[in-house]
Amino acid sequence: MKLTSLVVTIAPLLALTQAVKVNPLPAPRSIDWLDENPISVNLDKLNLEIGAENSIISEAFYRTVSTLRKLKWYPAATEAPISSFVPFPTAEAAVDAKKKKRDSQRTFDLSGLSVVEVTVNDYAADLQMGVNETYTLSVSPSSIIIESETVWGVLHAFTTLQQLIIYDNSKFVIEGSVNIWDAPLYQHRGVMVDTGRNYLSIDSILDQIDMMALSKLNSLHIHLDDAQSWPLLLNSYPEMIMDAYSEREIYTIQDLQHIIKYAKNRGVRVIPEIDLPGHARAGWRQINPDLVACGDSWWSNDVWASHTAVEPPPGQLDIMNDEVYEVIADVYNELSEIFTDNVFHVGADEIQTGCYNMSTLIQNWFKEDPSRSWNDLSQYYVDKAYPIFMNKTNRRLMMWEDILLTPEGAHTLPTDVILQSWNNDLVNIQNLTSRGYDVIVSSSSHFYLDCGFGGWVSNDPRYIDDYSNDVFNTGLGGSWCAPYKTWQRIYDYDFTANLTDAQAEHVIGAEVALWSEQVDSTVLTQKIWPRAAALAESTWSGNRNSEGYLRTNELTQRILNFREYLVALGFGASPLVPKYCLLNPHACDLYQNQTVLEQYGTHNDKNSTIAVLN
Ligand SMILES: *[C@@H]1O[C@H](CO)[C@@H](O)[C@H](O)[C@H]1NC(C)=O
Ligand SMILES: *[C@@H]1O[C@H](CO)[C@@H](O)[C@H](O)[C@H]1NC(C)=O
Ligand SMILES: *[C@@H]1O[C@H](CO)[C@@H](O)[C@H](O)[C@H]1NC(C)=O
Ligand SMILES: *[C@@H]1O[C@H](CO)[C@@H](O)[C@H](O)[C@H]1NC(C)=O
Ligand SMILES: *[C@@H]1O[C@H](CO)[C@@H](O)[C@H](O)[C@H]1NC(C)=O
Ligand SMILES: *[C@@H]1O[C@H](CO)[C@@H](O)[C@H](O)[C@H]1NC(C)=O
Ligand SMILES: *[C@@H]1O[C@H](CO)[C@@H](O)[C@H](O)[C@H]1NC(C)=O
Repeated sequence: MKLTSLVVTIAPLLALTQAVKVNPLPAPRSIDWLDENPISVNLDKLNLEIGAENSIISEAFYRTVSTLRKLKWYPAATEAPISSFVPFPTAEAAVDAKKKKRDSQRTFDLSGLSVVEVTVNDYAADLQMGVNETYTLSVSPSSIIIESETVWGVLHAFTTLQQLIIYDNSKFVIEGSVNIWDAPLYQHRGVMVDTGRNYLSIDSILDQIDMMALSKLNSLHIHLDDAQSWPLLLNSYPEMIMDAYSEREIYTIQDLQHIIKYAKNRGVRVIPEIDLPGHARAGWRQINPDLVACGDSWWSNDVWASHTAVEPPPGQLDIMNDEVYEVIADVYNELSEIFTDNVFHVGADEIQTGCYNMSTLIQNWFKEDPSRSWNDLSQYYVDKAYPIFMNKTNRRLMMWEDILLTPEGAHTLPTDVILQSWNNDLVNIQNLTSRGYDVIVSSSSHFYLDCGFGGWVSNDPRYIDDYSNDVFNTGLGGSWCAPYKTWQRIYDYDFTANLTDAQAEHVIGAEVALWSEQVDSTVLTQKIWPRAAALAESTWSGNRNSEGYLRTNELTQRILNFREYLVALGFGASPLVPKYCLLNPHACDLYQNQTVLEQYGTHNDKNSTIAVLN
């Protein structure tokens, strides 16, 4: 009796919404299911039909097919896009609906589709910032057709196709005819990892690239070194490697080339960062100790007024030492040969004046002309270093916003430098874009993945269990950017809110960032995934539905399933919920009301939304 009555209530719901099980992440910009007649795919015979031989495409195709075969993936409970006009089914009903659908008799074409037809307009377009990633994917009972401007769009089409093909009733099927048009909202969609604070194994980095490719993130920014360690074995200064953590915790040129090629084959750019002139001690001091100011000082949290660093150990390249620029040029030129991306990140964050107080050269420079300021010193560095960095074809530089937005920042900076924003949220984004800079958003308030794990400096009395420490221990707890950023917080960040259209056009992308003071290869994946998938979707197709409302609740089942998918592939992505919530869509919502997010406005409301760029 109970089952019958459920069927009655569910039937109209299924008719109203397109009840497909797959829910690819990121959600495509446009996906049209034309029917619900499963189309069988013959994976054993699946062939690529393409105009010209292209090894990147054929290898990606092979990977897609072999992954499908290995995984035999069937998604856990999913749902169609939420319609605000339809009441949500209860958890029990949703599960029953799924069972009912699976049990309904279907007939399959036993032969199945065995060709994927691919058309590419421009095979030559290199994987560089702004390359066209648009693709269309059409599946009908007679064909699977992919069209793309470039090779890189085809790779995205494959990761979509890989998520569309499921293993149901002992067959590989696509759940119906479907037309997809897809293209990213933002050209730069990234993850930043840090191999300076702790070493990350090459395998663990390749894993990140796999997961990025699957979620259509296209930029891996590697903060290669920091004051703590220098893991790069270079020809120009092999002695720098004396400051690697061990002989094993290094990257040779071949290692770096391997990472870059692996990433390129998956449509992921690798952007190197050498942090200059701050955060610099390890490596440089091996060439000549005089290159580094304050490297042997006590970083001094004891007397904060005279601190030389924001975290131990201290060290900054001495801006007034001419040899510094020769060494920077050599290291930069060698790395520019290795890294194929047009974008190179040269750091420029967190210059500490207390450190330069320990440089005789800099103090003398100030004495020569008492009118000189810290801003003049930063300007001196920019004016000397910028021509060295720009002495390359097609070069775009990236720097942290500090170079302009801190009290000791430079007066001016050429506007072709891309600035990565990590402080003050929308205020800094608006400041920089209004001045004509292209901005990549990594606001620490939303996109820093290392926040909320407590502090790491030792000999810290603030953890003593004493009432005087209660605020600390119930507050930030030593993590300066606490709390932990949940996937919902990441997804909901409208980082172009309140910008004019002209300003919004200067926001060219976003990165989640994972600083590695408390991270090495053992926890890398769990700290990045699946949270980075929330950014992957907000930068690919946005965080809003077609009516302009936040679609965070719609992402729920997508990201829960995506996490299961990563785990099935062998990646240790963190669980986000009790599995009950995955299996019972929306049973774990805070509100049963499925439209509560609508009170936060639509994309027409400039005060609260992400700009739609197309
Ligand atoms: C990418 O190529 C398509 C098809 O040629 C074109 O319509 C679209 O405008 C291009 N997109 C970008 C961002 O260049
Ligand atoms: C740096 O030196 C100047 C001049 O000697 C002094 O006024 C300032 O307090 C010092 N700053 C720090 C952070 O030690
Ligand atoms: C730029 O590179 C060329 C060729 O490598 C070199 O001759 C020149 O000195 C460089 N200029 C600067 C400013 O580094
Ligand atoms: C940007 O920020 C700087 C530093 O805080 C400030 O001096 C400047 O006036 C701001 N400019 C704009 C356009 O907001
Ligand atoms: C659900 O939430 C929306 C937005 O806050 C509100 O307008 C609507 O009245 C709520 N619906 C119910 C049934 O409470
Ligand atoms: C956006 O904010 C401005 C300034 O506070 C306000 O005048 C305007 O009414 C707001 N727009 C909407 C749609 O809420
Ligand atoms: C946009 O600007 C208005 C007016 O300054 C402000 O009230 C509102 O909070 C801003 N919106 C966001 C999301 O910062």
